[in-house]
Amino acid sequence: MQQRTTDPKEINFKDKFSLDGKVVVISGACGLIGRAFCEAAAQWGAHIVCADIALANPEQFAAELEQRHGRKMMGFALNVAVKNEVQNLHHAVLAAFGKVDGLVCGHQNKSHLKFEPFESVSEENWDTVVEINLKGTFLLCQVIGSWMAQNGSGSIINIPSTYSVVAPNQNLYKGTSLGCPAAYSASKGGVDALSRYLASYWASRNVRVNMITPHGVWNNHEPQFEQNFAQFSPMQRLSYNHEVAGALVYLLSDASSYVTGDNMKVEGGWTVW
Ligand SMILES: NC(=O)c1ccc[n+]([C@@H]2O[C@H](COP(=O)([O-])OP(=O)(O)OC[C@H]3O[C@@H](n4cnc5c(N)ncnc54)[C@H](O)[C@@H]3O)[C@@H](O)[C@H]2O)c1
Repeated sequence: MQQRTTDPKEINFKDKFSLDGKVVVISGACGLIGRAFCEAAAQWGAHIVCADIALANPEQFAAELEQRHGRKMMGFALNVAVKNEVQNLHHAVLAAFGKVDGLVCGHQNKSHLKFEPFESVSEENWDTVVEINLKGTFLLCQVIGSWMAQNGSGSIINIPSTYSVVAPNQNLYKGTSLGCPAAYSASKGGVDALSRYLASYWASRNVRVNMITPHGVWNNHEPQFEQNFAQFSPMQRLSYNHEVAGALVYLLSDASSYVTGDNMKVEGGWTVW
């Protein structure tokens, strides 16, 4: 319940950004952006549940986070595209913490398709990308979001892509071995639509559903790609994973209490021209 006042002096604006004591589940926690999400939310006081595939060793990552911040964290290995694994995650979180305040769907699959031209994409590869990116987000929202709705509060942040807002500029990839598959754009378009649907569906239950759209996060890219990127970007550079995480703290916290259905683009103005 928000304070009913017109006097901003009554409000502690610093406290509004605090995540003290909040329990936040982050999928794709061990990834490039996931790691920054976990660290930022932990620095603001949250208990983080690091969810990722077993290969990424989320338990180890959570143990390091717990040691660094001196606060209980949890690691959980799962495939987000399998419903009973998502249910097991949810049960484990409730058993350990008794609640969930935030859900961040930060997983992705696309890499094995990066270089595959559209004309030859197999059904199997298409299905894998859509299953993980879109169905995985659906399952996490269904299982954990429904619990939030029943309990009357929560903040969900899904991650679509610039390429669900605009098409990839194919010139970006000239002279590089990189590319972006159509299944990725299509699956992320689904994440965008699902998020807006749920923002409306759960607004009256005090569950906010927002999105963060990162773009071009630096990860030791090929020099040619970095040069091409600078030409097409208003800010003339790639971003860094830590630059995406400020938006997460805002959207998880009470500072964004009247924000739902929003897509916060952290893309250096890529889609503005
Ligand atoms: N990096 C960018 O420039 C960029 C741009 C736009 C959008 N995004 C989006 O941001 C999010 C994070 O991107 P990133 O660059 O950190 O990606 P990343 O590949 O570094 O991390 C993704 C994580 O998801 C995990 N994952 C994959 N399949 C999974 C599954 N089935 N179940 C559970 N976990 C699974 C991986 O193990 C990995 O740790 C993704 O949704 C991505 O689509 C990234």
